[in-house]
Amino acid sequence: MSSVTPDWAREVVLPHVLSIPEYIPGKPVAEVERELGISGAIKLASNENPLGPSPRALEAILANAGTANIYPESSAPDLRSAIAAKFGLASDQIILGNGSDEIMQMLSHVFVGLDDEVIMPEKAFSMYKIVTRLFGGISKMIPLKGFGPDLEAMASSIGPRTRLLFVSNPHSPTGVTFDRASFEKLLEQADSSNAIIILDEAYREYCNASDCVNGMDYIRQSDHLIVLRTFSKIYGLAGLRVGYGASHRWLIQLLNRVKPPFNVNLLAQIAAIAAISDDEHVNRSYELNLVGRTFICEGLRELGFKAIDSQANFVAFQPTCDAGNLYLALLKEGIIVRHLKSFGLPDYIRVTVGLEEQNRKMMQAVRKVMPLI
Ligand SMILES: Cc1ncc(COP(=O)(O)O)c(C=O)c1O
Repeated sequence: MSSVTPDWAREVVLPHVLSIPEYIPGKPVAEVERELGISGAIKLASNENPLGPSPRALEAILANAGTANIYPESSAPDLRSAIAAKFGLASDQIILGNGSDEIMQMLSHVFVGLDDEVIMPEKAFSMYKIVTRLFGGISKMIPLKGFGPDLEAMASSIGPRTRLLFVSNPHSPTGVTFDRASFEKLLEQADSSNAIIILDEAYREYCNASDCVNGMDYIRQSDHLIVLRTFSKIYGLAGLRVGYGASHRWLIQLLNRVKPPFNVNLLAQIAAIAAISDDEHVNRSYELNLVGRTFICEGLRELGFKAIDSQANFVAFQPTCDAGNLYLALLKEGIIVRHLKSFGLPDYIRVTVGLEEQNRKMMQAVRKVMPLI
């Protein structure tokens, strides 16, 4: 069986599909342990919640596991109502995805055709580029300002071919946020264009900056805005794949035309309903992250590393040695972090805030390997 695409297939495959960039995920624990013959590896590479799922979600999954032979309700009305109620919106203003990634794909499917333009920050979450290319669109990359998106430059690059504009707050992979005034200017510019702003708030729940934008407050103001959030981060359900978008009814109706049926599975819907009401778990996750983030930043700075102030559940930093070598040395110690080369930041590493013990072990490993690099 050959894995080389045969010539006849190369001739018929859509040319832009061949240029879709590859998504590079954080290395899984099992893979690292297998490759290095070690056990007890710690993964701090994919911004997952180290406390695990909400106990209420776990209970709901176990109680309902026996119904896995039944299709879920395709439009997940109960989960959409629970999300809508949380933000004072109507349930037909909510769309659900198999992760928020899938909603990005739906948006591209609806709006982006061959050679249409999609604006995004230069060093950002790679799915923005991938979903743009999926339908033949062209990514227009705007350099960061410092370590956050340059909203002014993004606003002024909106043109007649711009269909979508991706911006994340806090920004991934740096954790930097922007303020309301800059965001309002961007929205104003979008309002007089044909472009949709996709405000990706995957990490918004971790934010403690007083003037941090809450996208949900702006939906009524602008029909050029969709806000994306996820159950993968603070809610601890990354493995179940549930994300959501909030916007105007007309936009949600369009997305529903391309949404695959049953895209959020039965147990994921049930778990997310339980998780969204579990304030105790969310608060514990938030507090743990705040303490861990400070611990990591201080530890890295003591070593002379440049740690970027983050509002998310990760810290990006520039070590005083080669970042790629540090990444590999940590891997050998069983500590999986993310080298930010694939994000366009080859001199940086991103580490997810873990449990207190994991953070301590990670810092110990950094101290141990540094003299050897
Ligand atoms: C900035 C950003 N947006 C969205 C996502 C995707 O989240 P989901 O798991 O809901 O697809 C991630 C995941 O890492 C992310 O970093």
